[in-house]
Amino acid sequence: MCVRCFILLAIAVLGGTVATQSAAQEPEGEDAIFGNAKVAYAAADPVLGMIDSRKTLSLNGDWNVIVDPMGVGLPGNVFGAYHENRRAQTPHDLVEFDFEASETLRVPGDWNSQREALFFYQGGVWYHRKFTLPEGNNVRHHLHFGGANFSARVFLNGQIVGEHKGGYVPFSFDVTEAVTPGENVVIVHVDNRLDVDTVPTTRTDWWPYGGLARDVHLVTTPEQFIRNAKIELVDRDTKTIRATLQTENMAPGTEAQVSFPNLDVSHTAALNAEGEASFEFTADVDLWSPESPSLYYVDFIAGDDRLTDRVGFRTIETSGTQIVLNGEPVKMRGISTHEEPIGEPGVAYSKEHAVRILEEAKALNANFVRLAHYPYARHMAKAADELGLLLWAEIPVYWNINWTNEETLAIARDQMARLVTRDWNRASIVIWSVANETPLSDDRMKFLGTLIDDTRARDGSRLVSAALLGGGRKQFENIVLHLAVRGLAKGGLDAKDKAVFEAIVAQAGAAAPKPSDKVSITIDDPLGELVDIVSYNEYYGWYYSVFFARQTGVGENVYRPLMLDLMKDMTITAPQDKPIFISEFGAGARSGRRSDDKAVWSEDYQAAVYESQIAMLRQSPQVQGMTPWILKDFRAMLRTLPGVQDYYNRKGLIDPDGKRKLAFEVLKNFYAGNWE
Ligand code: GCU
Repeated sequence: MCVRCFILLAIAVLGGTVATQSAAQEPEGEDAIFGNAKVAYAAADPVLGMIDSRKTLSLNGDWNVIVDPMGVGLPGNVFGAYHENRRAQTPHDLVEFDFEASETLRVPGDWNSQREALFFYQGGVWYHRKFTLPEGNNVRHHLHFGGANFSARVFLNGQIVGEHKGGYVPFSFDVTEAVTPGENVVIVHVDNRLDVDTVPTTRTDWWPYGGLARDVHLVTTPEQFIRNAKIELVDRDTKTIRATLQTENMAPGTEAQVSFPNLDVSHTAALNAEGEASFEFTADVDLWSPESPSLYYVDFIAGDDRLTDRVGFRTIETSGTQIVLNGEPVKMRGISTHEEPIGEPGVAYSKEHAVRILEEAKALNANFVRLAHYPYARHMAKAADELGLLLWAEIPVYWNINWTNEETLAIARDQMARLVTRDWNRASIVIWSVANETPLSDDRMKFLGTLIDDTRARDGSRLVSAALLGGGRKQFENIVLHLAVRGLAKGGLDAKDKAVFEAIVAQAGAAAPKPSDKVSITIDDPLGELVDIVSYNEYYGWYYSVFFARQTGVGENVYRPLMLDLMKDMTITAPQDKPIFISEFGAGARSGRRSDDKAVWSEDYQAAVYESQIAMLRQSPQVQGMTPWILKDFRAMLRTLPGVQDYYNRKGLIDPDGKRKLAFEVLKNFYAGNWE
């Protein structure tokens, strides 16, 4: 029989059998053969807040998995439809997959670090496990995922439940109608492929870890339940606190309550037509700060539901170029991180991982951590609340996003909405960041403006920022002019380099600076008008010498020492009367590599860059904080230099096993002193 005839026969037969299945879910025809099936998936529910206070069945542990690079198992594909979990009943049944006979992976966790064959894998993986439904009447059941990278399709007992696109953020589905008493089978298809329309897009300087990377729970709530609640200090002098409580399925007029069991404070309010209740009251709370991280248990009660959160109360604002915490100017002595554990491969997903990372930041005498470049597991901000560290949280609108694609914007808005509504009670988080190093364009301004407006509307109590790209052509030309003047004054140049520098200086004519002149760099990005803090990634001492060398033909070996000296005579400013935050600077070093003449990749050179950066930033009066890049060497596909990078970005102050480099001490000593 010809192949096409077979296929048509198969379609006819399958069309029949498939038609008896939930026809609305399973397309037929050639799409079912050639993988073009389009299936409608429900969207995830809004964030279920305070997950740790709810009745949950942990679904963490070993899940059976099937690696499916071609998506053959997706609904509508004649060879797959894995979610139906068909099992061969007789030796004559042809079923070409079997979850229970398949290997397992640990959840939570990424697949890249659990199986060597999956180290570079970017594609689809199916997860399968069973669970026994907890007893309960008048309850609702929700499948809750702390995060799945980067898209997930969820199935339960053979039914399509829904889909979430956008990694790193929590999502859940109400599955009350799909669960059955006793044994249930949950199947999840996770895909970590990135494309031009995803957030982030295809190129990231961090590992695109895939998988059910965060905790998974079955959450059981009363039939009428509290969806989420927000509480914050709105007036430091009067200790006025504002709270809002959001419910589902509760009648307007139902009484809601907020109480502090340890303060004998309790207030009630009636739910409005939207099922929300608002409160404003005073309570004599001690302010939360890194030095004194005071936390209070707060109970939220409505109907049969009662949730408890542990909250710190503080204020954060700017005043001109200062950042003001609890009414006092503060310098953000920070460090950047990626979400990787110290001493283990893969993603950090547990409270223990979070505490270890934050304790290393504390060892630097830091009071601030930038959680780059995406939302972290909920454990990180909760640990920072307890340990006393301020946080910058951000979504992965990173480098060149598809600014004009509606779905891309929807994914970014959803990521920020879920991050904010999960963590808005975390005192440690003081900055929401909407982007990192995004090239200037009108479309980018519109896209980011929407995210900034969303964020301020959802949470006006924190600052909004974005890490802006460093340097512009004119500024670099001015830097090169200063380097040429200083190079000629220092001497020791070969004839070629001397001639190049002389030509550069001659071109400047009377405007040529003197060797002792200072240099000021201005951050020139229109986004500075929209954000509360002007944040800036700059790599003086690392990347820019490469650009200068390529532009002028003079070697990096000439530029690097001149640059380290010039930085000590540089300052950074911004035209806005706002604080500047240096969200990245750094240099790479292979742990253990030493060099008397400060060769690139040596710890000595990395430490020298830190010394020059600190000199530059501490003399820039508008700079109120910094989060050098980065605490720990981290996995990155862009970083391939054998024997040095080996698919690690080596800008860490510690190596993957936690061994500290020379520059760790340089930063630690600076933070130990007074940065006025
Ligand atoms: C950029 C980017 C980081 C990257 C870093 C680097 O600034 O924001 O994600 O890792 O530079 O080049 O190491």
